[in-house]
Formats: sequence, C-alpha cells, structure tokens
Amino acid sequence: MKFFIDTANFDEITEAHSWGIISGVTTNPSLVAKEENISFHDRLREIAELVDGSVSGEVISLDAEGMIKEGLELANIAPNITVKLPMTPEGLKACKYFSEKGIKTNVTLIFSANQALMAARAGATYVSPFIGRLDDIGQSGSELISTIADIFAIHDIQTEIIAASIRHPQHITDAALAGADIATTPFKVLKQLFHHPLTDKGIEAFLADWKKREGQ
Ligand code: E4P
Repeated sequence: MKFFIDTANFDEITEAHSWGIISGVTTNPSLVAKEENISFHDRLREIAELVDGSVSGEVISLDAEGMIKEGLELANIAPNITVKLPMTPEGLKACKYFSEKGIKTNVTLIFSANQALMAARAGATYVSPFIGRLDDIGQSGSELISTIADIFAIHDIQTEIIAASIRHPQHITDAALAGADIATTPFKVLKQLFHHPLTDKGIEAFLADWKKREGQ
C-alpha cells in the first residue's frame, strides 16, 4: 500500500514529502477552503511541481458539462493532475469522458462496493471509499475496502483503491490488510505513525549510554 497525503496545505506536503514516503496528494473543496491567500489552481500547480505523483483536484460542478469544463482546466495545470469527481450519474459521465481522453480520475465519496464497481466501469483510475465516515455511522470501512479489493481481483479490474477519510493509525493497518492500494492520510495521522513508546525509550537509552562512554 502506498501513501498519499490528504491536505491542501503546502507546508504539510513539503514536510511529509521530505520523509520519502509520499506517492501522491489528494485535496477536496473543504481542505482547499482552509487555505488562505492562494488560488486553488496556483496551489495545485505548486503541489504538482513538488510531488512526482498523482495530485487530485476536485470539481465542484454538479452537471457533467460543468465537471468536464472544470476538469479540463485542472488537467491543464500539470500532467500529474488527477480530476476528482463525485460518485453521481453526472460524475460518471464526466469520468468516462476523461478516461477516453487519457486523463486520470479519482471518483470520490464511495460508500458501497456497487458504487466502486460502477466507477471502475466508467474508467476511473482511482476510487476513494471513505472509511472514517462509514465507521462514524457504525458501518465497517475496512470491510468495504476488503469487499472492493475482492471484487476488483475477481474481475481483473485495474482501478486502484484509495482508502480515504483516515482518522487514526489503526485505519492505516486495516486498509493495508484489507487490500487498499493507497491510503490518503492527513498530516496529523502520518506524524502519529512514527510514534512508539519503545522507539522513544530506545533512542533515550542509546544516547544516555553514548554520553557515559564519552565521560570515560
Ligand atoms: C479524500 O479524498 C477525502 O478528501 C478525505 O479523505 C475526506 O476525509 P474526511 O472524512 O476526514 O473529511
């Protein structure tokens, strides 16, 4: 499973990218709305220059024609831009259009296996099941990932599964075990993944022993 980072904040992306683990970035309108003093297109351009991988920018139109117009503008920003589209009939029409043009797509707001299958058949490069939001309503996000992964394997579907709406480190392990290709992870959760009390304790002990040696 690969890591994408789920943010539109350039400092967070720069920091996580420096760790060498980031293969792509996802944004959504809520994440972009948090960023001040920069246009959406300029921010996507900055990110796409820094990260050598898929950078998802989401459309806000509700009709296929509007999504196609917005998506073409986004795709013109850089070759690694992925057009993020909602899981609706209009979204899938736009998905089919972009797939025929060779433009990458990420169909978002996936909450069922049938939605994922339909998006894949419309030519989606990626589908994004939201596991945290499913857990929030008492359904199992990781079970959904596992079901989609099984269906894609049975039918030899190449669409990649992005586990989205990640809330905590256990979601990462669950998504990896369930067969997600990618987990798009908030910066806060990426930082949490480093921590283990025995790692911190081990570093302290090594340094303390080294200091003792220096004192000899
Ligand atoms: C993914 O593409 C979405 O932008 C994101 O993961 C949604 O997460 P949330 O449920 O925390 O808003």
